[in-house]
Amino acid sequence: MSSIYVFDAYGTLFDVHAAIGRFRAQAGPEADRMSDIWRTKQLEYTWTLTLAGHYAEFWVLTERALDYALARVPSVPKSLKASLLDAYFKLDAFPDARAALKGLKAAGHMTGILSNGSPAMLKGAVDNAGIGGDLDGVLSVDVLKMFKPRPEVYALVTAHYNCAPRDVTFVSSNRWDVMASVSVGFRGLWVNRSKMPDEYLDFAPAQILADLGSLAAAQ
Ligand code: LAC
Repeated sequence: MSSIYVFDAYGTLFDVHAAIGRFRAQAGPEADRMSDIWRTKQLEYTWTLTLAGHYAEFWVLTERALDYALARVPSVPKSLKASLLDAYFKLDAFPDARAALKGLKAAGHMTGILSNGSPAMLKGAVDNAGIGGDLDGVLSVDVLKMFKPRPEVYALVTAHYNCAPRDVTFVSSNRWDVMASVSVGFRGLWVNRSKMPDEYLDFAPAQILADLGSLAAAQ
């Protein structure tokens, strides 16, 4: 039984669409489309820069992706940019995130985050959610200057906890992130909140969870 539970941050513990959620009225009818493009471009920049051998911190890419999304969806007022970025820095955690972490700690497990997020933005989100006391590590790719899904990133976990890959349960709502974690030998759990079809079938998760509330049953 794995005893180290490591979580992806953005999309898994923190709701990346909570930022637009706070400004939906001002953003208008294309708010959700803009937010989807923002997230998609943010991730695309991490992949393309890493493939090309470059790096800029996740906060910078988050701002560049927002600039692009606002340009693509002109009906959302550009004047919202500063407010949206501020909301992203202090993103809301999903309602089930805190209870899931507390449950794991109460059961005697180690916990942590492994994220593309830069250290300052991870601290902002962790502090805002009040979950720092239930985390035994907050690991950022920033020390490596490369993004997920490079295997070196996942090796940060085994180095931090001084453990073998098989001791790690990695929890992510990003199916490609689960793929990479399974590929390095972690036990991967996919949180499929939005009921997406499965993919990366050669790298199957040990379990698919509807939300973090189902985590207790998957220990
Ligand atoms: C992260 C990205 C994948 O938190 O959302 O690492």
